[in-house]
Amino acid sequence: MSDIALYCFRETRVPARRLADQLGVACHDVIVRHFPDGESLVRAPDAMIAPVAMLYRSLDHPNRKLVEVMLAAAALRDGGARQVVLIAPYLAYMRQDMAFRRGEAVSQRVVGSLLAERFDAVVTVDPHLHRIAGLADIMPAIPTRAVAAAPALAEMIKVDRAADTVLIGPDSESRAWVAALAGRLDLAWMVGEKRRSGDRAVALTLPDAARLRGRPAIIVDDLLSTGGTMMACVDEARNAGATRVEAVVTHCIASRTVISHLLASGLDRIRSTDSIPGPTSAVSVASVIAPLISGLVPQLG
Ligand code: R5P
Repeated sequence: MSDIALYCFRETRVPARRLADQLGVACHDVIVRHFPDGESLVRAPDAMIAPVAMLYRSLDHPNRKLVEVMLAAAALRDGGARQVVLIAPYLAYMRQDMAFRRGEAVSQRVVGSLLAERFDAVVTVDPHLHRIAGLADIMPAIPTRAVAAAPALAEMIKVDRAADTVLIGPDSESRAWVAALAGRLDLAWMVGEKRRSGDRAVALTLPDAARLRGRPAIIVDDLLSTGGTMMACVDEARNAGATRVEAVVTHCIASRTVISHLLASGLDRIRSTDSIPGPTSAVSVASVIAPLISGLVPQLG
């Protein structure tokens, strides 16, 4: 039995195994059974538990998955793990980073504390942190790492992008990382102005839209969820005369219905990382996560 192993849930078996291969460690399944009333039973694998257990699961569908990763952490510890590290390529509840209305819970802080109580370290990719400096602000008691997907996304975009492509960030919050991605790819870029008035109600303008006439555009964002932001951005780019409009996102938590609707409404292609495995997954996050894990888990060095 090696000192370190990766443990995954069924839906993340493929990306977890990719990461395990890159790290040169074994990957075992955590078993989950759902009771008729909706409760989950989580069982650590029968194989001996490694002293350093890395648990791999993205936290889309967060309410159920959060409970299950907590149960899995306990099962791994009870089975002998001395250190349990959560690798959650997509970390949920990061958008509610303040009380937007009086009386609301600040979910980001609450979920951060819950994870810090159960895990010895947390690793994620492009977390949605807009009003705090970093994950350390919400999980000060444990080491945390947030890695950017930009290098993996840039490699993917590079394969077939035209030289006159313009990258579009939908809102001011995306400015820094759209600029960084454009820098890596030597492409022009612009940023939109977005106003959200409801979960699905998004108004968006592209102040620089005239530059899109006769050129292909790629809209880049950290998250695709209801598709409201993407749809508004696609409309603007099309109206401005873009010849082709694609989307590249780090995390695609959108339903298949949303994806089909976007593809039928003016979006030519949607690609994402495999942080949430699905029809848009086109590039692995393993290559950006692996180097970071080596630094965090000294036994791998
Ligand atoms: C917002 O700040 C994010 O970067 C995304 O633009 C947003 O979360 C996408 O959500 P939706 O697809 O629901 O518009």
